[in-house]
Amino acid sequence: MDLQLTEEQQMTQRLAAEFAKNEVLPKAAEIDQQHRHPKELVARMGELGFLGIAIPEAYGGAGLDTVSYVLVLEEISRACASTGVIMSVNNSLVCDPICKFGTEEQKRRFLTPLAQGQLLGCFALSEPEAGSDAAAQKTIARPTAAGDGFVINGVKNWITNGPVADVCVLFCMADPPGRAQGHKAITAFILPMNTPGVRTGPPDKKLGIRGSQSCQIFLDDVFVPNDLLLGQVGQGFKVAMATLDGGRIGIAAQALGIGRAAFEDAGRYALDRKTFGQPIANHQSIQWKLADMATEIDAARLLTLRAATLKDRGVRHSKEAAMAKLFASEAANRAAKDGVQIFGGNGFVEDFPAERHYRDAKITEIYEGTSEIQRLVIAAAILKE
Ligand code: CAA
Repeated sequence: MDLQLTEEQQMTQRLAAEFAKNEVLPKAAEIDQQHRHPKELVARMGELGFLGIAIPEAYGGAGLDTVSYVLVLEEISRACASTGVIMSVNNSLVCDPICKFGTEEQKRRFLTPLAQGQLLGCFALSEPEAGSDAAAQKTIARPTAAGDGFVINGVKNWITNGPVADVCVLFCMADPPGRAQGHKAITAFILPMNTPGVRTGPPDKKLGIRGSQSCQIFLDDVFVPNDLLLGQVGQGFKVAMATLDGGRIGIAAQALGIGRAAFEDAGRYALDRKTFGQPIANHQSIQWKLADMATEIDAARLLTLRAATLKDRGVRHSKEAAMAKLFASEAANRAAKDGVQIFGGNGFVEDFPAERHYRDAKITEIYEGTSEIQRLVIAAAILKE
C-alpha cells in the first residue's frame, strides 16, 4: 500500500522493523514470562534515537515527526508490546510535554537526556480515585511560606515505567489560598524520582504487557522548587489533556502492532496447521477471520496516520487521536481473540505467542483513556462541530 511516506520515513520504518525482528522479537516471550524490564532494549532504543523521535536534534532527539514515531512504535509493538509502551510513554507523555511547555533550562536539564535515553520518564496523572475522572486529583501541592516552591503529598496509581523511571511528569492540585478548585487548580511539575519523600510501591502484577513495569508512587512532603513547575500554576489539566492527545496516537500505534502480530502469527499458523487433510487456511471459517483482521488493521493504520499527520501540522487532533485509539485498540482485541481461536488448543498455551497478544491487547482499551472516554471525547468534538 502506498501511504506516500517520505524517503526518510521509509528508512526509519525499515530500521525499526529490522531492530524489532532481530533484537526485540527473540526476547519477547521471555520478557513477558519473567515480567522483566527490558533494560538492554531500552538502551538500544536510546542509541537508535527511538526514545525522542519527534524531539528536535538540538535537544537530543531524532528530529523526525509523529508519523515516523507511529511507524517505529507499530514495528516495536508488533515484536513486543511491553517494549512498545516503555518507548511510547517516554516519547509521548514525557518528552513531548517538556518540549512543548518546558523552559529552556528544563529542556537542557531533562529533555536532552530523556530523548537520548540516558534518563527514562514516567507520567503520573492517575490516582486511586482519579482514573477516567482525571480532574478529581487529590494529590496536593502547597506553596511554601517562603514562596520558593511547593510541598507535595499524595498517591499516584498504575504509573507505567514508575519502578524504573528517573523523571516524572507529575500532576497535582495546587492549593494557593483563595484559588478555585477543579480543572483550574491542576498544576504540572517535573519531578526527579530521587527527590526525598518520593517512594515507589512494588511493581503491579498485570494480565498483560508484563515486561512494562508499573506501580504506585507515594509522595510524602516532597519539596519541589518553583523552577520545576511545568507550565503555569493552574495550567496542568490542559497540559495533561494536550499530552494525552499525542499519547493516544502512540497507543493506537501500539494496538496496531499487537493486532498485526496476532494476524501475522495466525496467518502463518493457518498455512501450516492441517485439519481434515488440508491446511486450515483453506477453510472459509478461517479465511473470513483473517480477512476481517487484515481489513481492520489497515483501517486502524489509516486512522492512526491521519491523527499523526494532523499533529505534525500543528492542528488540534483530540477527536482524530481518540478515534484512532478507539478503533485500533478494539480492532487489536478482536484480532487477538480470533488469533487465539485460529491457534485452537495451541492458542491457549504459552508455547505459542497467540495468548500473549490476547493478554497484551486488553490494556490498549484501558490506559490513556478507556474506550468509553474516547467515545466521550469524540462525541464532544462532533457535537461542537
Ligand atoms: N486539549 C486542551 N485542552 C483541553 C483538552 C485537550 N485535549 N481537553 C479538555 N481541555 C480543556 C477544556 O477546553 C476545558 O477548558 P476550559 O475550562 O478553559 O473550558 C478543560 O480542559 C476541562 O475540560 P472538560 O470539561 O472536557 O473536562 P472533564 O473533566 O469533563 O474531563 C475527560 C474530560 C475527557 C473525561 C478527561 O478527564 C479525560 O481524558 N479522562 C481520561 C484520563 C486519561 O486518559 N487518563 C490516562 C492516564 S495516563 C496513562 O494511562 C499512561 C500510561 O500508563 C501509559
